[in-house]
Amino acid sequence: MADLDDLVTAVLATSKYQHISPDLVRRLGAAELGKRPRLKEAVKATKNKLHQIGGAYFTASIDYEAALAQIADGRRRGPEAEKEALAAVMRRHASTNERLPVLAEFYAATLAGLPPIHSVLDVACGLNPLARPWMPLAEDAVYLAYDIYADMMAFLNDYFALAGVPGRAAVRDVAAAPPTETVGLALLLKTLPVLAQEDKTAVPRLLDTLQARYLLVSFPAQSLGGRQKGMVANYEAQFDQWVAGRNWQVKRFEFASELAFLVEKNF
Ligand SMILES: C[S@@+](CC[C@H](N)C(=O)[O-])C[C@H]1O[C@@H](n2cnc3c(N)ncnc32)[C@H](O)[C@@H]1O
Repeated sequence: MADLDDLVTAVLATSKYQHISPDLVRRLGAAELGKRPRLKEAVKATKNKLHQIGGAYFTASIDYEAALAQIADGRRRGPEAEKEALAAVMRRHASTNERLPVLAEFYAATLAGLPPIHSVLDVACGLNPLARPWMPLAEDAVYLAYDIYADMMAFLNDYFALAGVPGRAAVRDVAAAPPTETVGLALLLKTLPVLAQEDKTAVPRLLDTLQARYLLVSFPAQSLGGRQKGMVANYEAQFDQWVAGRNWQVKRFEFASELAFLVEKNF
């Protein structure tokens, strides 16, 4: 136990992980200590894991105060300038950056034909809540967002306040504590493979727990290093396994950088 406390303290002391969820560090750290009892090696293995599941997506560290000022300035200059400012910030996280070339088409196509959506849950959201202006949701839609970085969640709350988006962002390890709020739509964008890397039981548990009428699930069509042969087919097969036995209606969409499925749950 002393070792686990020391491991958590050591990881949180690094500038890269100072804002990350302590609960997540504790969960992953305990698993790493179970595999290799030496503290130093377990700290290193935990940091590697955190890099794979979160740290690797940052193209550079983000100055959130400057980013918010940039968005506020865009808003003053009008809706197009605001969208440009939002896109510039989304470029800083690899996951939203990859989606930018198809962003308008991505949400227009996948969410077309849905009844008005009044609440959204963005699970392991990254900077995707900044794409709210591209999403065809009801004007008053409440936006709930979870990820593992406290500074990123504080920034998203500041953005919601600035843009008048009702909702909140909060730190949550969604693999250990799947969200339970009832919503119209849950976004699981490029999230399931990351959670499966953390814990093999996380995805079925999350899918069983989510209380959403519709799910938009996606997978990367390229790795962080570039497009890879067979990736789409592999993720599709994996998704089919997760869907098996569930009474779901599924529509498939393929974009240059992302494979997406809109799921309607039949309760
Ligand atoms: C591939 S990115 C996807 C980000 C966003 N959904 C998007 O598509 O732009 C994976 C995200 O999962 C987050 N993440 C990883 N493990 C998590 C966990 N246990 N709970 C919540 N978020 C997690 C990471 O911080 C990262 O933002």
